[in-house]
Amino acid sequence: MLDEMRESFGKIFGSETNAEPFFSPGRVNLIGEHTDHEGGYVFPCAIDFGIYALAQKNSSGKLRLHSMNFDGDYGSPFEISYDSIREKLTGSRTWVNYPLGVASTLLKHGHEFAHGLDILYCGNLPDGAGLSSSAALEVLTVRIFSDLLGFNIDGVKAALYSQEAENDFVGVRCGIMDQFAVSMGKKSSAILLNCSTLEYSYAPLELGSHCIIITNSNVPHSLAGSEYNLRRQQCEQALDDIRKVKDVSCLCDLSVNELDEVAYAVKDPVNLRRAVHAVSENARAIRASEALKAGNLAMFGRLMNASHVSLRDNYAVTVPELDILARLAWEFPGVAGSRMTGGGFGGCTVSIIENDRAEEFIDMAGREYERLTGRKASFYRTGITNGAGRIIQ
Ligand code: GLA
Repeated sequence: MLDEMRESFGKIFGSETNAEPFFSPGRVNLIGEHTDHEGGYVFPCAIDFGIYALAQKNSSGKLRLHSMNFDGDYGSPFEISYDSIREKLTGSRTWVNYPLGVASTLLKHGHEFAHGLDILYCGNLPDGAGLSSSAALEVLTVRIFSDLLGFNIDGVKAALYSQEAENDFVGVRCGIMDQFAVSMGKKSSAILLNCSTLEYSYAPLELGSHCIIITNSNVPHSLAGSEYNLRRQQCEQALDDIRKVKDVSCLCDLSVNELDEVAYAVKDPVNLRRAVHAVSENARAIRASEALKAGNLAMFGRLMNASHVSLRDNYAVTVPELDILARLAWEFPGVAGSRMTGGGFGGCTVSIIENDRAEEFIDMAGREYERLTGRKASFYRTGITNGAGRIIQ
């Protein structure tokens, strides 16, 4: 990948003499879905699919950006001076909004851009699949600015700046999970992150005779679409109602029993279902991380299955294609657990499967999924890797 990128870099920007290589992984969330924006726990890990970049300073003082995935192997880069970055672009080349959002956020926080930069991106992370290609692009760009322009931004700060870029510049009110996972990921470990305090710990992913398989429904998801923001708003309304009868700072401060006791205060039954999901999912994420620690993969898997059911019935973010993929996995011997992962409305499922049966599962699920939906699924067998940074060669 990097060799091809060097060739293109020279053609696009004129020279690649000092271009430095960087990589950001995508992420898969094992459990704890739609809890981050409600102050709860998530349990994601960084995957070895991601986005590569080559970057070097230029003398034009401008930011020049090109993506081989979106703009092709050659051609003219997108070019802008830092002081004219104002608001997100519409129309074509909208992928540049992620790096521009990052630049605008760093400028807002007082970082001074003393040099222009040329950045070429190329990734093997499927776009729109719910594996955090947006967060990967954002965190990767923070790392590049920080390393090449000397900003000295640590991993947690990089995640927070990236989230701010996505919230304020791109306009998706995402939580912190994706940016944190791609920035702070650790080889062979999942991250148990408390999204209200940002306290985190790494849990070794000892799956023994099992492996992680990600299945892409190839139904493109769109978080920027209003549904994600709507779910957040429904949770906020539920919280507002609950606060009239109980002092609580966020939904995930409540236990399942405590929510039961105040459920009567939530006026809209749809909002209540959203709250039931957030609170029960938070409890599942905590239990699942404990089950994994205790080596109880069967329990971990059952909690994953329950997570999918709640995302389908309470949070209403699955689509029929994701429900079919989950069911095919649940009914296959050798699958410990399976659920949709990420924001929903399309994208991927994540399944924990016995190594010896993985190929058989892929054959069966691919065939049945196509028969039932007319679509082809894609399967990724992924390793768990470190967070974004410069590639040391
Ligand atoms: C998207 C968002 C995350 C999180 C998940 C759902 O990936 O970017 O912040 O809310 O959806 O868990």
